[in-house]
Amino acid sequence: MPPIVAGHEDQVAVDAVQARAKAVWPRIASDLGLAAEGARFRQLMVNSRYQHVRSVQVVQTATGQRYVLRAVFDEINAAKQLKSLDRHQQASERLRAVPGVSSPSILWRDRDSGVVLMEFAEGDTAYRALSLSDYGLAERAEVLRRIGHAVAALHRVSDVGDQRFWPKPFLKQVSTRAEAVRAGQFHVPKPKKFLGLCALLHRAGRAARGQVFRGAIEHGDLHLRNIMMSETDVSFIDYSNHKGIYPYRDIADIWISNCPDHLAPDGCQPGFGGIASADWAAFEDGYGMRLTVDPLFRFFFTWRLFKLWSALAARPSYQHRRTADALAGALLVLDALLEDGA
Ligand SMILES: Nc1ncnc2c1ncn2[C@@H]1O[C@H](COP(=O)(O)OP(=O)(O)OP(=O)(O)O)[C@@H](O)[C@H]1O
Ligand SMILES: [Mg+2]
Repeated sequence: MPPIVAGHEDQVAVDAVQARAKAVWPRIASDLGLAAEGARFRQLMVNSRYQHVRSVQVVQTATGQRYVLRAVFDEINAAKQLKSLDRHQQASERLRAVPGVSSPSILWRDRDSGVVLMEFAEGDTAYRALSLSDYGLAERAEVLRRIGHAVAALHRVSDVGDQRFWPKPFLKQVSTRAEAVRAGQFHVPKPKKFLGLCALLHRAGRAARGQVFRGAIEHGDLHLRNIMMSETDVSFIDYSNHKGIYPYRDIADIWISNCPDHLAPDGCQPGFGGIASADWAAFEDGYGMRLTVDPLFRFFFTWRLFKLWSALAARPSYQHRRTADALAGALLVLDALLEDGA
């Protein structure tokens, strides 16, 4: 994992990435026949782990048009970046036929680097839309229904037909990781609980073994800050996959990536995995499936928890607070899954 940017030297690196991205603008403007002169740039927040290689900026031209300039200068992962961009472009084209669901069009793209100019998606992130809506209010259910409905549309346009699930490669990873924890070679927090999660995954894998499911190319990083929502549109950004075909992984990402943020608060009836049952009901209604009773979804939800927990082992100490919160959330989710007999 790349270093987290913290000190002054790193700030220099961050500024350099911004400047390098801006320097591409005159070429983009010329290719697209836009006014290059007088454009204003506004930096958007990017993941702190990647800000030394990634820049996302709103560009407003002198004539008032708004675009998003996104640049990733990461030679090591360049090939993957380009494939994820292909994937974004394909989804964006296919979603054009679906009213109310979209992905910003990629208007310009460098042939061999991760620099793109895309449409500006109006509205807030789904994360913010959901935070602004209160538990128990119809508005929150409506936000979740809209998200569920949009994710179903994204998966429909990414369909790869019926598939059968074989858990072996997943469970092999689980066994290897559990062995490393037992041998003291992998330092995960709360190792005993983590080993309980590994055992649970084996049971969940067996329960879903051989199950037929509808495959779809995953988005790959579908947390609620990668979904934009306006009055009329739900829009997907920041794709991070081009070959994985398990759509349930995307849904698990929605609920687990920001753990503990989407867990049922006090006074709210928790459902599957410690998420409010009212939230599940609304999301499932929008998605059009009873996910929480589906063994394969339950497996991938548990798998996502395993990934989250494993990642906590690599967190640097100055992220102590965030790590502690995520761990507390992970423990709650695990307890809920165990109680459920998943
Ligand atoms: N086309 C767009 N229109 C409007 N806002 C955008 C657009 N693209 C990105 N943004 C905003 O910029 C933020 C950062 O962009 P992006 O998600 O691509 O990078 P990131 O957050 O660093 O990635 P990660 O999801 O891996 O943390 C998004 O959360 C979103 O608020
Ligand atoms: Mg993002």
